[in-house]
Amino acid sequence: MRQVVTTRNGGVEVLEVQTAPDPKPGPGEVVINVRAAGLNFADILARQGLYPDGPKKPCVMGYEVAGVVGEVGEGVDRGLLGKPVVAMTRFRGQSEKVVVGANQVFERPEALSFEQAAAIPVNYLTAYALLVAMGGLRSSESVLIHNAGGGVGLAALDIAKKIGATTYGTASPGKHEFLRERGLDHPIDYRNQDWLPVLMQLTNGRGVELVIDPIGGDHWKKSYAALRTTGRLGMFGVSTASANGLKGKLKLVKAAVQMPRFHPLGLMNKNRGVFGLNLGHMWHEPEKVAQWVQAIMAGVSEGWIRPHVDKAFPFDQAGDAHSYMESRKNTGKVVLLP
Ligand SMILES: NC(=O)c1ccc[n+]([C@@H]2O[C@H](COP(=O)([O-])OP(=O)(O)OC[C@H]3O[C@@H](n4cnc5c(N)ncnc54)[C@H](OP(=O)(O)O)[C@@H]3O)[C@@H](O)[C@H]2O)c1
Repeated sequence: MRQVVTTRNGGVEVLEVQTAPDPKPGPGEVVINVRAAGLNFADILARQGLYPDGPKKPCVMGYEVAGVVGEVGEGVDRGLLGKPVVAMTRFRGQSEKVVVGANQVFERPEALSFEQAAAIPVNYLTAYALLVAMGGLRSSESVLIHNAGGGVGLAALDIAKKIGATTYGTASPGKHEFLRERGLDHPIDYRNQDWLPVLMQLTNGRGVELVIDPIGGDHWKKSYAALRTTGRLGMFGVSTASANGLKGKLKLVKAAVQMPRFHPLGLMNKNRGVFGLNLGHMWHEPEKVAQWVQAIMAGVSEGWIRPHVDKAFPFDQAGDAHSYMESRKNTGKVVLLP
């Protein structure tokens, strides 16, 4: 089988399509013949050597796939054979075949193509955890979604619209028209101006009840300052560090030094909350994640979960796919095709 291998830390030139023996399912596992694999910002940070959770290199990245069950291991229902499915993968998703536990596999909704289905797991589970499970967003509240035009951003917008909250979102200006069409109430250009005074003006100086921030470093201080009384800040990424080589390492150190330190009394006296999310640290909670998947899949059949695939790249153009995301060109999801 063919796989996209991150051979070492570096620029996109370190990505290579290589062949490897077909994997075999162990007890309780299935082999998925992959039709589309999601690309996530974490794959880029891992390639740059800035992602502590990433596997040792050389490695095959990939947290999610959509495909067809090709083989089942001992103890797994043979009725799964030939079924179109979607799954989270603990790496190795960017392969023609991947082995996963049968309990990590969910039926692909008929309404979705394989490409669209591969856009569901990471983006929508992250957004669901941030807005619903941890953020507790309500219809009377407002939310600021940073990078609203990205994969997680658009997923968060779908969920916030369903909840009925007022939505604010930062994004590169070229994405605003699309975001308005998707229902974002207030797009904010954060590339050419300081977004905080703009948000404050739009909210009559009050701020918002929820901010979800994947940028990290001192940006989390600014997002915290954007909270209204009873507001919550969800922190879930450090894309500010993204860069190749030594520059990336230095940016990561800078982000770590500039991070806010929250004091319990400060939180108490301001009536604010902060929380963090790392979906990659949820593998020991499959029941909880399965509940979230069920809610998301119900949203697909009800029509309010609308995965948007911007572009699909064949495996041998994985480098172009990384560059596309790194240069902020993507609106929604990028997927890789075997
Ligand atoms: N903790 C978790 O469990 C978890 C799970 C999934 C994702 N994440 C994080 O959430 C963020 C979004 O992930 P995603 O996979 O959905 O990617 P994405 O948002 O589609 O990523 C690309 C977009 O991010 C924006 N961006 C902001 N800073 C950037 C930078 N320094 N370099 C390049 N682009 C930058 C750009 O959009 P604009 O500039 O147009 O806004 C770009 O188009 C990432 O930080 C990721 O690590 C965390």
